[in-house]
Amino acid sequence: MATATATAPENPLVEGLERLPVHPTTLVIFGATGDLAHRKLLPAIYNLGHEGQLPERFNLVGVSRREKEHEDFIGEMRESIERFSRTSPKPEVIDALLSRARYVPGVFDDPQVYQQLEQVLAAYDDEAGITFNRVFYLSTAPEFFPVIVKALGESKLASCEGAETRVVVEKPFGYDLASARKLNDAVLSVFDERQVFRIDHYLGKETVQNIMAFRFSNTMFEPVWNRNYIDHVQITAAEDIGIGSRAGYYDNAGALRDLVQNHMLQLMANVCMEPPISFSADQVRDEKVKVIQAIRAPTVEEVPQMAVRGQYAAGREAGEEVPGYLQEEGVPADSKTETYAALRLEVSNWRWAGVPFYLRTGKRLARKVTEIAVELKPVPHLAFQAQGSLGVQPNQLVLTVQPDEGVSLSLGAKIPGARMRIRPVNMEFHYGTTFLSQSPEAYERLIMDAMRGDATLFTRNDEVDGLWRVIDPILTAWEQDRGDVAQYPAGGAGPALADELLAREGRTWRPL
Ligand code: BG6
Repeated sequence: MATATATAPENPLVEGLERLPVHPTTLVIFGATGDLAHRKLLPAIYNLGHEGQLPERFNLVGVSRREKEHEDFIGEMRESIERFSRTSPKPEVIDALLSRARYVPGVFDDPQVYQQLEQVLAAYDDEAGITFNRVFYLSTAPEFFPVIVKALGESKLASCEGAETRVVVEKPFGYDLASARKLNDAVLSVFDERQVFRIDHYLGKETVQNIMAFRFSNTMFEPVWNRNYIDHVQITAAEDIGIGSRAGYYDNAGALRDLVQNHMLQLMANVCMEPPISFSADQVRDEKVKVIQAIRAPTVEEVPQMAVRGQYAAGREAGEEVPGYLQEEGVPADSKTETYAALRLEVSNWRWAGVPFYLRTGKRLARKVTEIAVELKPVPHLAFQAQGSLGVQPNQLVLTVQPDEGVSLSLGAKIPGARMRIRPVNMEFHYGTTFLSQSPEAYERLIMDAMRGDATLFTRNDEVDGLWRVIDPILTAWEQDRGDVAQYPAGGAGPALADELLAREGRTWRPL
């Protein structure tokens, strides 16, 4: 693990942010007036500009259903950047960015919108005397993904002579296995896979990329990274927030689709995959696909033994009274949508056979924390047991994805004194103290990679298929189950039933 030394003032994170050459690019955001664009995409683009990472020649086009004047669009973009940027915004950088921005209003199935877009793109090219690469970013409601892709194909915007054309597709990619396959077919009937960048923003997080760095750049861990030494793995993605104003989306999705199918299974794939021979997009994704295919999908009948769902009830969060899920605005009073899900999964391959992977996620839990805890098996023999070494615990390696980014390893150590008494101590690495600058936001990394044409941190079509294959039977079982969904008080650790999932195997969840 890296440590900062007095003689090495260079900040390795900043070093990682070296300017990489990027072909001149026009980025087109469909859904540019939406929440994601305002909160995440525009601030990320601004920060890339701020760090000097955008291509030297860069244009931005917003497409959205809302009729609005160019000046209003620019004003709103400026406001969002000022409000949500990770770095303190510099007016001259914003001005430079917005001076290259255009707005195209219109509904997504209207061919005229695409004609107008084509004119805007061609005008940028003519003005500069070069052909810009084109990146179409679909940040709309998912029902528009196939509509936009089809229209791009029909209006001959899916490729461009002399430059690259790419399409970035936001989540959710599909609603279940069948709809994900349909969407993949629709996208791949217009674009080649190498042009397609399916977003999972967790893959853009520094700490998620660090899982591979940690596993494959240290000799120490890989020899024990298997069924012989690992007892079980717990992956937690707990959130303290409720669903806010997203009832329309969330009530149709639920925790399983919203977080498990994508982010959590991706974390698991990073933990379980075999080392790739190189870090090229396809080598990495080949290994991920292999391990995803090895995750045993339950049968619908097995689901009650391996999955638990819950819904938050009213409670207290950070000292404030908060309503239950069913009282949230826009949620039907009889909704059975889960806001919590816990699963017990297994990976049926040579390395992992028999090791349980416990996954849990939920809204309105005690705190926001995303972590992977790998518990090793206990030592086979305790020579100093007679001396009272009751404090010996199995080693635990915890990779904290957020918010306190880092890695910690628990070890047994002797308590100073005449007797051989042992207690667990922690060896820790924190991003905050080791690397002196703030990590880039996931979206900064991903937008940059899409512009560079590097798909390593994006989900390939066969990966999407494999992820839904694991989730599909659970969705089916929960849809068929007419019973009540367990309630858990907001601000707590989730439903008691989830504890049983581990208790019957003699284990407990890590405290939240
Ligand atoms: C999104 C989900 O994909 O991830 C949200 O739709 C969730 O419901 C969010 O809150 C969590 O992301 P992060 O980066 O805050 O952990």
